[in-house]
Amino acid sequence: RRPTRIQHIAKWKSEGHKWAMLTCYDYSTARIFDEAEIPVLLVGDSAGNVVFGYDTTIPVSIDEMIVIARAVVRGAPHALVVVDLPFGSYESGPQQALESAVRIFKETGAHAVKLEGGERVAPQIAALTAAGIPVMAHIGFTPQSVNGLGGYRVQGRGDASDQLVTDAIAVQEAGAFSVVMEMVPADIAGQIARKLTIATVGIGAGNETDAQVLVWQDAAGYTHGKTAKFVKKYANIGEELGNAARQYASEVASASFPGPEHSY
Ligand code: KIV
Ligand code: NA
Repeated sequence: RRPTRIQHIAKWKSEGHKWAMLTCYDYSTARIFDEAEIPVLLVGDSAGNVVFGYDTTIPVSIDEMIVIARAVVRGAPHALVVVDLPFGSYESGPQQALESAVRIFKETGAHAVKLEGGERVAPQIAALTAAGIPVMAHIGFTPQSVNGLGGYRVQGRGDASDQLVTDAIAVQEAGAFSVVMEMVPADIAGQIARKLTIATVGIGAGNETDAQVLVWQDAAGYTHGKTAKFVKKYANIGEELGNAARQYASEVASASFPGPEHSY
């Protein structure tokens, strides 16, 4: 198996081959997803929610991203590893974006970065691309702007679809190799997917995009509490882990663990 590179993503777009991306935040899970042949892993700043326990992705620091990204890169020799630029690490302009992305590249060995925004971050995308850093863009609902967007809402409905199309074209023209579209109507996402020459990755964006992404804890039933409508639960890891923990504790209490086979 050869490692996934951005050239494969471009080829898959031209062939109409759909692919899957999952988030990932640690070495052990990276091993599992890499062996499952998930071609692209996203070290998302959703780590803020599912790993660090913050209410939003806003507090996540570049240092936190670097620690988890290094672990994922070590566990995934074949996957293309994309790392989110966290809030506050690229908004000042192309220079700041470049400094942040260079740090991530030098300290983690990741293969691409992702940032949120359309037209407004086109200069950042152009600067990174020119420096040889592949960029995945992210438009529609952008969690780092949750305060400005007024909550977790579907974006690009009605008249707002024009701006979504403008944003999609702007990131493609700036040099992004792909673009995530989050929580947008399926028909608009489909129109954009057909219009763009770069790969579109949907999350809550219907099934006409070139790829899909989910936060793995959501997809595996490991997330605490309720998940969004766009999530499909492929497993019940949380329940399984809870049962394992309870059984272990009860066997310790009854001294049935460890048994002779676990003892020296
Ligand atoms: O941080 C993240 O997990 C993401 C995906 C949901 C696209 O940005
Ligand atoms: Na993110």
